[in-house]
Amino acid sequence: MGTGTGPVPISMADDIARARELLEHATSVAVLTGAGISAESGIPTFRDALTGLWEKFRPEELATPEAFEANPKLVWDWYAWRREKVVHAVPNAGHRALVAIERGCREREADFTLVTQNVDGLHRAAGSRRVVELHGNIRRVKCFDNHHAIESWQETADEVPTCPRCGSLLRPDVVWFGEALPPEALAAALAAARTCDVFLCVGTSTVVEPAASLPYIALEGGARVIEVNPQPTPLTGSASVSLRGAAGEMLPLLA
Ligand code: OAD
Repeated sequence: MGTGTGPVPISMADDIARARELLEHATSVAVLTGAGISAESGIPTFRDALTGLWEKFRPEELATPEAFEANPKLVWDWYAWRREKVVHAVPNAGHRALVAIERGCREREADFTLVTQNVDGLHRAAGSRRVVELHGNIRRVKCFDNHHAIESWQETADEVPTCPRCGSLLRPDVVWFGEALPPEALAAALAAARTCDVFLCVGTSTVVEPAASLPYIALEGGARVIEVNPQPTPLTGSASVSLRGAAGEMLPLLA
């Protein structure tokens, strides 16, 4: 687990200096995060070999409206298991570094927007202020038929809880495959990508649309892209700086 205090390889020092310089001179910073930033908080990613959730589970059986209609209890229980991990997780050095980068932007009156695909709420828990949750939040629940927001519910061993207002089954307030993203969140993410001059992409495989297009929209607008990821991604070749390492180790060096 990274603390950000270990020695930096000499080969990376230039890249870190370059990334810091880009961030320090930016007038508008957009950040996109994915599951990788929460890996060091103990929350599994989706596509990492061996440890990724989609290595063990099939998305079409768990993360689609059709899956919920076919087997609501299985889907509810899977999300309850994930929610349990999330509520016990705490933000790590990567989340905290993004809070510091946002504070730095605020102090010099630069724009800052943090767009996340994560549903764990750890950016807000760390203290990030301008957070756009593209895929919803696993801590929230709504009803399947009418999207009534539900504050509290009773877990039972046998049945999926139901909506006190309309009686329909409850589901997590996350975006499933085949569903539209929350329109305000998508609009805010697109606006941030279009107007930023530095786009920082952290811990995402950049394969799920529309989030995957955000860095390319930023590039079209003339922004520089900084990528933080231990593995190469389809975006790596387009990045001005690619920091090949864990978010909890790399981001504190940029903050
Ligand atoms: P993925 O699991 O696809 O990608 C995680 C990325 O994080 C990979 O590129 C890893 O190399 C990288 N990574 C792993 N550990 C890291 C660390 N310590 N620091 C930095 N990076 C690290 O997750 P996402 O790209 O977030 O959607 O996946 C996008 C969407 O697909 C998710 O929001 C989810 C999923 O299906 C829905 O459920 C709708």
